[in-house]
Amino acid sequence: MAVIELTVNGRKQRTDAPPGLMLLDLLRDSLGLTGAKPGCGEGACGACTVLLDGRPVKSCITPAASARGKTVVTIEGLAPEGGLHPVQQAFLETEAYQCGYCTPGMILAAAALLDRTPRPADAAIRQALEGHICRCGSYPRIVEAVRLAAREARRD
Ligand code: FES
Ligand code: FES
Repeated sequence: MAVIELTVNGRKQRTDAPPGLMLLDLLRDSLGLTGAKPGCGEGACGACTVLLDGRPVKSCITPAASARGKTVVTIEGLAPEGGLHPVQQAFLETEAYQCGYCTPGMILAAAALLDRTPRPADAAIRQALEGHICRCGSYPRIVEAVRLAAREARRD
């Protein structure tokens, strides 16, 4: 059993990790952060997406050991407590979800996109969300939400 130290949502964590443990299981089972969702389990649906040193990763196929010493942000920590990230606010305003299962991964991928590309073209939005499956088919409103978040961020 290895010990892994990492920073999750701004807090240092130290936790046991058996060999082969994936980051998704560490977050959900060891740290109780259930915002990242288990879906396909093979990197194909995006439901489990978190940010690892600012970049979106599919946590179901990311070994927990690879997060050692790094910074992880989950949907629970994207905005300061009690607040909403601009992408979360935009998802609410455009009702860019139905069941919400894909939503945490979509929001984190979009937030990472806007961090590096504040004025994304639609093609860039679609590319950032590639590999994120919405079984409810909310894609048009999801893209609209990202456009809205980008517009609102530019007004600040
Ligand atoms: S559960 Fe990780 S990509 Fe589908
Ligand atoms: S809102 Fe249901 S899977 Fe996307």
